[in-house]
Amino acid sequence: MEFRKTDDAVDYDLLAAQMRAMAEGVKSRVSNMANASALLYRTIGGLNWAGFYLYEEGELRLGPFQGKPACTVIPMGKGVCGTAALRDETVVVEDVRRFPGHIACDGASRSEIVIPIHRNGAVSGVLDIDSPLCGRFGEAEKKGLEMFAGALEEVLYAR
Ligand code: SME
Repeated sequence: MEFRKTDDAVDYDLLAAQMRAMAEGVKSRVSNMANASALLYRTIGGLNWAGFYLYEEGELRLGPFQGKPACTVIPMGKGVCGTAALRDETVVVEDVRRFPGHIACDGASRSEIVIPIHRNGAVSGVLDIDSPLCGRFGEAEKKGLEMFAGALEEVLYAR
């Protein structure tokens, strides 16, 4: 049985500030999402995947990410990502083996959090973060990552 890692308190305000600083003057959304995924992946402990699926033509398509190669298309309503996007709410999965319909891109993943990203109030994609540890994501991570996603929405779409 794996246990949640508790020895890394992440400063999400600092992470959001670093993301904004890296995006200063950068016009490409792909570049900003690529750097955001790298920042999250390297700063938050105990991860094996961090990146984006983007809503295009009625489905979620793989965007910039860090980790192993992943499935390229996720239908709305399918898997953790499609569920979060369809419901337009953050989904936290303590043990992916107990989430019916979980899509296993990396067999090592045990827990997952997916946060919707919005443009003009509509879902434009999701931020997906995976961990090989059970129960890696709790209230602190949900709150911090939702705030980070909100800051990223401003960087991506509000200018
Ligand atoms: N596990 C996700 C699929 C994407 S990978 O984790 C990168 C899901 O069930 O939607």
